[in-house]
Amino acid sequence: MVGALTAVVIGAGGGIGAALVAALAGSGEFGAVHALSRSPAPQADGTRGVIHSGAIDVTDEASIAAAAAAIGQPVDLVIVATGILHESGRLPEKALKALDGAALARIFAVNTIGPALALKHFAPLLARDRRTLIGVLSARVGSISDNGSGGWYGYRASKAALNMIVKCAAIEIARTRPQAICVALHPGTVDTPLSLPFQANVPSASLFRPEESARHLLAVLKGLSPADTGHIFAWDGEEIRP
Ligand SMILES: NC(=O)c1ccc[n+]([C@@H]2O[C@H](COP(=O)([O-])OP(=O)(O)OC[C@H]3O[C@@H](n4cnc5c(N)ncnc54)[C@H](OP(=O)(O)O)[C@@H]3O)[C@@H](O)[C@H]2O)c1
Repeated sequence: MVGALTAVVIGAGGGIGAALVAALAGSGEFGAVHALSRSPAPQADGTRGVIHSGAIDVTDEASIAAAAAAIGQPVDLVIVATGILHESGRLPEKALKALDGAALARIFAVNTIGPALALKHFAPLLARDRRTLIGVLSARVGSISDNGSGGWYGYRASKAALNMIVKCAAIEIARTRPQAICVALHPGTVDTPLSLPFQANVPSASLFRPEESARHLLAVLKGLSPADTGHIFAWDGEEIRP
């Protein structure tokens, strides 16, 4: 028997996003999983919940609005799993001299503004009468207090700003949905295209497969209460200071 809950994963074509979709659809708790990505995938076989594929580009607000409108039912869980660290061969900046305005604008558009607009259009879909969850994939390196080594200016800053967006949204959502929980999540270092150029110095025991990270993240979400809303959590449940 498959449960009646509804989940949405934005960025469903990514390493972690795809693993989250598979875990949610296979959990037996979710009757519908909306898997939204720039290139919608055909429905996967062998899952218990039904996967509905849809298109979304988080840098195009009209596509975000259309994707939310197409769901048209109360939602229990929204996960935003989009993000970039490097693109078109451009690696993260190691020094001020490497900063480029257009590259900074691009990383903020995808990592900060995109998820903010996703919250704008998907938070109103959350059910009002029960516990609901929004998890936005951020990164530990977006913590200002944890920054001991510098570098990665655009990525760090876009995630720090994303954490503030999540905090503001959590406060606002709680006014109308006191059972809702809206948090930022650090998935660990995960073997995906995003981390590929930086995996050489990562001990293999510290590099998660996407399925492992998805399992950890869903366990963290499961354990949260409304008192946790607006906070940042790592894959192991540790709270990360902003
Ligand atoms: N992997 C890690 O070690 C790690 C560590 C810390 C935090 N994170 C965070 O975890 C999240 C997921 O990363 P990942 O490792 O799964 O990376 P990934 O495999 O590269 O997936 C990133 C996803 O973002 C999507 N995306 C990029 N720009 C988009 C846009 N404009 N509109 C819609 N989707 C867009 C990509 O879509 P396409 O498939 O269409 O390209 C892809 O599905 C990111 O926020 C990342 O910062 C990852």
